[in-house]
Amino acid sequence: MRIVIEPDAAAVHRRAAARIAALIRRRPACVLGLPTGRTPLALYRELERLHREEGLDFSSVVTFNLDEYVGLAPDHPESFSSYMRRNLFERVNIDPAHTHVPRGDAPDLAAECEAYERAIREAGGIDLQVLGIGVTGHIAFNEPGSSLGSRTRVKTLTRASLEAGAAHPGATPDRPRLAITMGVATILAARACLLLATGREKAATLRDAVEGPITAQVPATALQLHADVTVIIDEPAASGLVRREYYIEMEQAQRRLESGGR
Ligand code: PGA
Repeated sequence: MRIVIEPDAAAVHRRAAARIAALIRRRPACVLGLPTGRTPLALYRELERLHREEGLDFSSVVTFNLDEYVGLAPDHPESFSSYMRRNLFERVNIDPAHTHVPRGDAPDLAAECEAYERAIREAGGIDLQVLGIGVTGHIAFNEPGSSLGSRTRVKTLTRASLEAGAAHPGATPDRPRLAITMGVATILAARACLLLATGREKAATLRDAVEGPITAQVPATALQLHADVTVIIDEPAASGLVRREYYIEMEQAQRRLESGGR
C-alpha cells in the first residue's frame, strides 16, 4: 500500500483529483469506480474545476458507482444517482449513457446485481476504484461480516451506516435499510484502488484497515490483498497509524524515485 499523508483535507482532494485527471489524460476512455458520501464532495468540486479551468475532458470516461439504496428510483433526491448528477455528472461533460449506478428500484434485485457485474466486465473492468471508508470499516456498503469474496448484491445496512446517512444534509429519518453494493471481490478486481479519508473520526478505522489483520469484520482490510492501492489521508486521519513515520519516509523515497533520483 502506498500511504500518502497530506496536511489537510483540501490537499487530500487535490492530490486525489490530480491522480484521476492524470489517468483521464493518459486514457480518455478510462473506467472509474466512484463513491458517494461526504468525503468525495470536495474531490468532485476539484474535478469540476479541472474540467472548467484546465479542459479536463470527461466525454469518453465511463463510471460505475459503488452502491445505491434499495427502493429509491434514480430521480429520488436522496438516491446516490441524484447525488452523482448533482455533484459531478451535471457539472462536467460526461455522457450520461457512460455513467452507471445500480437501480435501487429494480423489480428483480438479484438480476440487477448480476447485470451490474456483467456491465463492469463488458466495459473492460474498472481502471481506478475510488473509495471512502465508513467508521465501521466498510468499503462501499460492505458492512462488517461481508464475505471478502462477495460480488454485487443486496446488503442490510448497519445502524451506524443508517445514522451516518441520516446525518447528511436534507436526509429524511426514514431511510432505506437495504442497499445494492459492489462486493469486496468486485472492488478488488479493479486495476487500482484509491482510498480517501479525512478527519480524526476515521483514525481508528484507518489504523485497523491499513495495519490490522485481514478480517471480514473490517472489510476495508481486504485492500491489503490488492497490489495497487493508494491511501490518501489528512494528518488527523493518519493520527492512529503506528508506522506513520515510515510511511512518510517511504513516500519521500517514492517521489524521489519517480522524479528520477534515488
Ligand atoms: P463519508 O462515508 O465519506 O460520508 O464519511 C464514507 C463511507 O461510508 O464509505
